[in-house]
Amino acid sequence: METFPDILPAEPTRVHVGFQVNGESVEVAFAPHKTLLEVLREDLALTGTKHGCELGECGTCAVLVDGRPVLSCLYLGLECAGRRVETVEGMAPAAGLHPLQKAFADLGAAQCGYCTPGILLTAKALLDANASPTLDEIKEALAGNLCRCTGYIKIFEAVELAAAWTRGEDAEPRKETLYGTDYDESGLLPVVNR
Ligand code: FES
Ligand code: FES
Repeated sequence: METFPDILPAEPTRVHVGFQVNGESVEVAFAPHKTLLEVLREDLALTGTKHGCELGECGTCAVLVDGRPVLSCLYLGLECAGRRVETVEGMAPAAGLHPLQKAFADLGAAQCGYCTPGILLTAKALLDANASPTLDEIKEALAGNLCRCTGYIKIFEAVELAAAWTRGEDAEPRKETLYGTDYDESGLLPVVNR
């Protein structure tokens, strides 16, 4: 049987790159053309970082490198050498949730959840840099993160709520956020359910 050895792809050279992921030092061997998104998902099995457009347009692949959001689909894994990478898997403390995760869960700011890891990390970078962002600052920080489900309002409100909790305030979600405008002023149940 005839073979065509010349057209078989050569095994790409692999590079060994050391960096930190969610507080742990790792050394990973991968082909030098791989993006950080591919290295995280395929070589480190950190599939919380989502694979969307691969064009830098949707933001679902966002992770933090040295505390700043980057689009991991446009960022070479090689560029991480010696850097600190944070993914959604590293957000929660040993017990419980990060305030952003809790606020997103409480307010229904995650629906299908595909955009959520990138949004949580982008919002985390914002709150780490600015404990009291205005609504406009929240919108601007999240402008590169697309969500097909929520309409964004609950996402913005969840970031505001998490910011208040992070500042130590005893904040609660607005009743309108939980129940819509049709809630009973005197209690917690929406009028429609009584
Ligand atoms: S997958 Fe990276 S921006 Fe869409
Ligand atoms: S929750 Fe579905 S895309 Fe945002």
